[in-house]
Amino acid sequence: MYLELNGVSKTYNGRVHALDGVSFAVERGQFVSVIGPSGAGKTTLVRLLNGSERCDAGQIVLDGAHLENARGGALRAIQKRLGTIYQDFALVENVSALQNVLNAALPDMGALPALAGSFGRQRRQQALGLLERVGLAGKADEPVRELSGGQKQRVAIARALMRSPALLLADEPVASLDPVTGRQILELMKDIQRTEGVTVLMNSHNLDFARQFSDRLIGLNGGRLVYDGPADADEDTLAAVYAGKAAP
Ligand SMILES: Nc1ncnc2c1ncn2[C@@H]1O[C@H](COP(=O)(O)OP(=O)(O)O)[C@@H](O)[C@H]1O
Ligand SMILES: [Mg+2]
Repeated sequence: MYLELNGVSKTYNGRVHALDGVSFAVERGQFVSVIGPSGAGKTTLVRLLNGSERCDAGQIVLDGAHLENARGGALRAIQKRLGTIYQDFALVENVSALQNVLNAALPDMGALPALAGSFGRQRRQQALGLLERVGLAGKADEPVRELSGGQKQRVAIARALMRSPALLLADEPVASLDPVTGRQILELMKDIQRTEGVTVLMNSHNLDFARQFSDRLIGLNGGRLVYDGPADADEDTLAAVYAGKAAP
């Protein structure tokens, strides 16, 4: 998916400028990491991009569709092409890995089949195939609460892939994982970007991972875009992204 932000701003409670006039574009199939200190606006950016929050000003254009004024069916049509994964996985702990992946299909199903949980053979096969894709063959029937953190994030990735996303959003996807497991999850995301051609936008406060796995970095500080450039930028440039508040 090709995405473009033009002058995007978001204010909370009329005073916190979480994002302030942010503009950038991402080519289809790029892996972009958004870096910056805590409170920089990274999570807000993901929430605006997946439509769980609305911007106050500016435009967010995803493959030509304007998200900032989309409502109802038009909004759902855009959201259908997005998958989001989170630091805390956001899974249903008491049901199986397979059920969590299948749940991604609920919005596409009629009310009655959804209520009855009749996903059908084809969806079950698709979900099982995705669990295999993320390295969880044999774990389909395992309750999520019994899986490790890395396995949970794999389930969440399979759930995101269930909707064949054109854009994968990831909000600190490895911040709750140990470094070895975190690296494995990023390798999986990288593999999905390469083989499926999915555009990936990841928030990360782990600069090493961001540099290593991304095609490009976006730096936010105090809601403003303070860096947009190659992932192999020098240490001083990147340290500046984290230093103090962006100049007003
Ligand atoms: N729901 C909210 N209500 C009020 N303020 C918020 C809310 N969400 C985020 N903020 C504020 O917006 C700013 C950006 O937050 P966030 O997007 O979570 O940054 P990051 O993910 O980079 O840490 C912070 O100052 C934060 O306190
Ligand atoms: Mg955040």
